[in-house]
Amino acid sequence: MIHLAGTPLSPAVRKSLAAARIKIGDVARASLHVHVGARPPARAPKAPWIWVATKAVEPEQASAVVLAGAYDVIVLGADLAETLARRIAELRIRIEPASQPVGFVGKSAAARRMLAELDRAAQTSMAVLLTGETGTGKDLAARHLHARSGRKGALVPINCAAVPNELIESELFGYVRGAFSGAVANYDGQFTAAAGGTVFLDEVDDTPKTLQIKLLRVLEDHVISRLGENVWRQVDFRLIAATNRDLRDLVRRGEFGADLYQRLAIVQIEMPPLRDRIDDLPELAAHLIARFYREEPTSPHRVARISHTALGVLARYPWPGNVRELRNVLFQSLVKKRSGDELLLSDLPSHVVRGQPSDPQDRPTVVDRAALARMIDEGRMNLRAVRDDLERASLELALARTGGSPARAARLLGEVGRGASTDPGGTVRAMMRRLGL
Ligand SMILES: Nc1ncnc2c1ncn2[C@@H]1O[C@H](COP(=O)(O)OP(=O)(O)O)[C@@H](O)[C@H]1O
Ligand SMILES: [Mg+2]
Repeated sequence: MIHLAGTPLSPAVRKSLAAARIKIGDVARASLHVHVGARPPARAPKAPWIWVATKAVEPEQASAVVLAGAYDVIVLGADLAETLARRIAELRIRIEPASQPVGFVGKSAAARRMLAELDRAAQTSMAVLLTGETGTGKDLAARHLHARSGRKGALVPINCAAVPNELIESELFGYVRGAFSGAVANYDGQFTAAAGGTVFLDEVDDTPKTLQIKLLRVLEDHVISRLGENVWRQVDFRLIAATNRDLRDLVRRGEFGADLYQRLAIVQIEMPPLRDRIDDLPELAAHLIARFYREEPTSPHRVARISHTALGVLARYPWPGNVRELRNVLFQSLVKKRSGDELLLSDLPSHVVRGQPSDPQDRPTVVDRAALARMIDEGRMNLRAVRDDLERASLELALARTGGSPARAARLLGEVGRGASTDPGGTVRAMMRRLGL
């Protein structure tokens, strides 16, 4: 609602305000004060206010009014209703407290600070760099940022670490038929798919050097050229990048281009590690338990809560894998639970109870070192072919188990590329294209 002071408006302007559903009301409840007149108000109103000048305004006068706290100065015209509607919408975004994104748990000071930064960034179209350890919620944050930005297009996630180097350029920029052997049809690429929307470059630290140079050009001019053609097309996209490494350090070591870093890090938002916002753990645990039963609705047994003792131990664990690790620990415990409505300390994995993160080296290996050594010694080794074999076999096995669903296959494969929450299937689809599956 707006409050109107000063000169009464003409019936025509009143009618157009009504048509724009702008209510004019009393001072106390108004979200916006509009002063209409040839001169600015004698005293600046408290609420956000706008001066609608009934005649042309000198720049000095406009400056003085804005310095006195006005949100805007508008010269009265036929488009008044439309302009006011826009200003009201903008102010509403400013006034609303940082929103709680769907599925995003976090009330601690650290989480709230980060959410407020995300909301502020969402109001701009600037590039945003999300930093933070693995599992801190960078994917979730990217999704939230995109949703809040009001951009109508799609959010297109690309995992720079998961897409093989020789493929990533064609994946991003597309290609025309015949651009290289295997380019049997035109492909528009992911930047074009993100037109009007957002490109999310995950694990951006893994971007190959040649691609970094191309990306810089793309970011500076917002133009794309498909491989094999010399036409540059304008594409409207917003860029979000994420990394769990210190890009500044990589720049110092010459592994990441300084220019590209500057471009990406215009707005940088740091995701706090779970151990720095351990206040959020009880609510996160409850949220993740509920999520488990949403994702596994046919689960034979249901746990309603988590015991006080178990929570105490979880709060002391260092969580190197952050919320992702918490999710894995809880899901693993819930799968095994057969009776009782409370998750107990004895249900948790023993390394968590001991307070010691498990060693990633524990993973069983599928690499047959003896076979590799033989191939190398006999001069028959072709690393690329071996890697392709492993990828093809893993994809085929996973796809067979998921009835061909790339998104679910990505989960079985350890969430290939970990672009999991935004587009779990994207990386698997890219690999399928490359391997011709
Ligand atoms: N604040 C949070 N509230 C609820 N779930 C979260 C939160 N942060 C992360 N998660 C969950 O933890 C997992 C890892 O998050 P993700 O965004 O993929 O992390 P990152 O991209 O930083 O590695 C996902 O399943 C995500 O849904
Ligand atoms: Mg991620």
